[in-house]
Order: sequence, then structure tokens, then C-alpha cells
Amino acid sequence: MSFTADRLLLFGATGDLAQRMLLPSLFALDADGLLAPELKIIGTARSDMSDGEYRNFARAALEKYLPAERRGSMAGFLNRLTYQPLDATTLEGYDDLAKKVGKPKRGLAIFLSTAPSLFEPTIKGLQSAGLTGDNVRMCLEKPLGTDLGTSREINDAVAEAFPEDRIFRIDHYLGKETVQNLLALRFANIMFEPLWNAAHIDHVQITVAETVGLEGRVAFYDDAGALRDMVQNHMLQLLALVAMEPPAHFDATAVRDEKVKVLRAMRPVTKGETVTGQYRAGAIQGQAVPGYDEELGKASDTETFVAIKAHVDNWRWKGVPFYLRTGKRMPKRVTEIVIQFACVPHSIFAGKGATMQPNRLVIGIQPEENITLSLMAKVPGLDREGIRLRSVPLNIAMPDAFTGAVRRIAYERLLLDLIEGDQTLFVRRDEVEAQWEWVDAVRAGWEAEGLAPKTYTAGSWGPSAAIALAERNGVTWHE
Ligand code: BG6
Repeated sequence: MSFTADRLLLFGATGDLAQRMLLPSLFALDADGLLAPELKIIGTARSDMSDGEYRNFARAALEKYLPAERRGSMAGFLNRLTYQPLDATTLEGYDDLAKKVGKPKRGLAIFLSTAPSLFEPTIKGLQSAGLTGDNVRMCLEKPLGTDLGTSREINDAVAEAFPEDRIFRIDHYLGKETVQNLLALRFANIMFEPLWNAAHIDHVQITVAETVGLEGRVAFYDDAGALRDMVQNHMLQLLALVAMEPPAHFDATAVRDEKVKVLRAMRPVTKGETVTGQYRAGAIQGQAVPGYDEELGKASDTETFVAIKAHVDNWRWKGVPFYLRTGKRMPKRVTEIVIQFACVPHSIFAGKGATMQPNRLVIGIQPEENITLSLMAKVPGLDREGIRLRSVPLNIAMPDAFTGAVRRIAYERLLLDLIEGDQTLFVRRDEVEAQWEWVDAVRAGWEAEGLAPKTYTAGSWGPSAAIALAERNGVTWHE
């Protein structure tokens, strides 16, 4: 059902995500005139606070996390905020919450930025207070489960109260401009699509490297590990966007139908196709950092790095490996997709001293937002012995192509779409479940193999076995 929400109810309103991302994003939307004047934001969490105290809390968060160039007068935005304390685990209190929300004219969007263990009791509480009607939509933050079984439990609990077309599951990577730009690159240009298949692509690499370590999220991360924290969601979404067939429309059904087909076509990985790692003390950009076990305060066999050679078993991608790699405490923060094209079928320059290199398209997602296509060119000069060729980059830096464009946080896009009711950039239940199914099989393989993470030095690109995983097929990770 389509409506623009005029109430936004935020669970976890005092949490880390609310402070760092949600409040600053809502402020930015407001500053850009993208929020209807009548939109009210109701925060709720366990702490006892008045409206005024919550506004002060929100102001402090904005002052801390908004980039200087995006700060401005806050009074108007803060006036939209009210607050209701709530213990989400008991039914008492939900009626008061409903009173605070009041009667929306058009509709209510609810954002659950809480631990997944609170999802079920929260849904029950909302039902008891009549906050799940046709004009209410529900947005869920990750992690949505720890495996297929627990993810189904969450999805079932939410489905008790909301139909799928009113459930918005966040994968914040889908809110990134450069991730959406992948769709523009593929489907708004004629030149890539005819080559975008096994006949012309040798392999694909997807790297999501981070320099940060545990960042205080000790218990959560040690239970999750890199596979569940990054591959199950963000990396598989990137893979699906790279590998999907052209959807007929840019809408929620068409785009998600195509992504889920890819996810379901992913072959279970076999022995030797994954490498896991855990960082030890090292240095990143000259700064000494402790090892994972030191940060954690105990020994653990949780992986902080994973590399996988994945396959999509369909006509388009038959025989094309997708190398996925993600890790904490890597030498630099970089998310990028590399499309390595095949060699030309026949070199007319062979025997003339020329070395050919296949074309390569590198799509920089973050922090650099750019697209680089490497092309072969003749090295200028008069060479007696023949012709010399070299690979040269054709480079588009997005900030230069769109000067003056504001750099937006992914949550700005996602919160706006939630308020407006557009599900295109949210993850559908069948997608999440297909992602878990594949990831569960990877983990089952690790357990069967008794695979333990290999150590790597913080500030390196992971265990040497990850390099070998690619090199066995003559592939070098792009750095
Ligand atoms: C989150 C993970 O989903 O994504 C974190 O839980 C990770 O561990 C983060 O650091 C990375 O997001 P971004 O936008 O900084 O690449």
C-alpha cells in the first residue's frame, strides 16, 4: 500500500546507529526539504527521558556526527522529535507509546534498530497497541538471524503482523550511491551488457576491506565473524547486482526478482574454495594495532577475514569464478568490484614484441568513487622491432563528474525510501533466505573440514593462502 508516512517511530532511539547514522540522516533530509513539514519522529528506548532531554541528546549526536559542511540550524528538526521510554520486552507501555505516536493522517513507518532478540516481543507489543494496521510499515536492521533457521523465525514473527509489501529489510550497502551506480553503469549504457557474460569475462573480484578492528562490538562480532557479518549480506548483494539479468523495470519487484535468481543459482562452495583468517598485532598506516585475541581478551576461532571462490551456475556465468574477499585490519579501507575481461581471441601483434593484457573494469565503491577501464594503447614512438603496447586507464572520478554533489550517507536514501514506501533498495525475504542458505552451507563445509582461521598480520591483505586461492587459477587480487 502506497503512502508517505507522516510518523516515524524509532526503536533503539538512543543506540549507536541512531546517533551515528539515523539522526544525522534524518536531519540532512530535513535540511534538504525532503521531509514533509508534518512528519513527526518519535524515539523510544529503555532510558527514561523527557522530550526535551531527548532533543538535547539528539542535538549532541548531530554535533558529534554531522560533517561540518552539513550542519545548520537544528531547531526545526529537533522540534519534530518526541520521546517515549519503553521496556520493549513487556506488553505494558505499548499503549502509552501508541498515545505518543497519535493518529497519523497518512501512515506510520517503524524502524527497529534494536537487537534481533527484541524483534518478536516488539511486534507483539505493537500488535497489542494497534500499531500494525494497514497504514503501518516496518523496517528491520541487520543482523536478521545468525543462520537460515533463526532468520526464518524472525521473518515468521514479523510476517504475523505485516505483509511482505510492508516489510523493509535494510542492507545499508544498497543505500550507497555508488552501489546504485552499478545499475546505472550496467543498464543505462549499451556497451557493457553484450560483453557481460562468460564468453567475455574471465573472472570477477569483489573486495570489501576495512582498516577497523572490533570497534567495541566484542560479543556481537565474535559470535558473527566475517562471513555472517559481511558476506551474507553486503557482499552477496554486490554479487547479485553484478550478476543479475537486466530487470524489465527499476522497481522493487523486477529488481528483486532478478537478484534472487542469482542468489539461488550460487553453487555450494567445495573444499579448498575458501580461506579464513584472524588478525594478529601489526600496524596500519604506521599505527600499531593489537591482535584480535588481544582486543577480545581471549583466544577465539572467529574469522576476521574470509576469501571465497564462488560460482553462479547459470548460462551467463558458467565457469566464471567470483572471488570474494573481506577482512578487518586490512592495509586500507576499500570496497571495489573488478571485472576482468578475457583476452582478445587473436592478437594481430603477436610476434611484434607486444604483450597483451586483457581489459579490466574497476568499479570503486568506497572511499574512492570511481570507474576505471584499462585499455590497451600503442606506446608512442618509432620502434624498429615492431609495436609496443601498454595498458592505460580510462578513469572517471565521480566527484569530478558531478562537482558540487553532496556526499550522502546510505541511510539518507534508505530512510527517505522507507518514508515514501519504495522497497526497491530493501531486501526481500526470499533474498535473505537464499543468502543464508548459501552461507550456512559454507559454514557447514568449514565444520566438516575442521577449517580454522589462519593468522595474518594486521595491515596485510590476509593470510597468504588467500593469495594462493586466486593464484592457483592464474589470478592476482587487484590492489
Ligand atoms: C556492517 C558490519 O554491516 O558494515 C560492520 O556489521 C562493518 O562490521 C560495516 O564495519 C561496514 O560498513 P561500511 O559502510 O563502513 O562499509
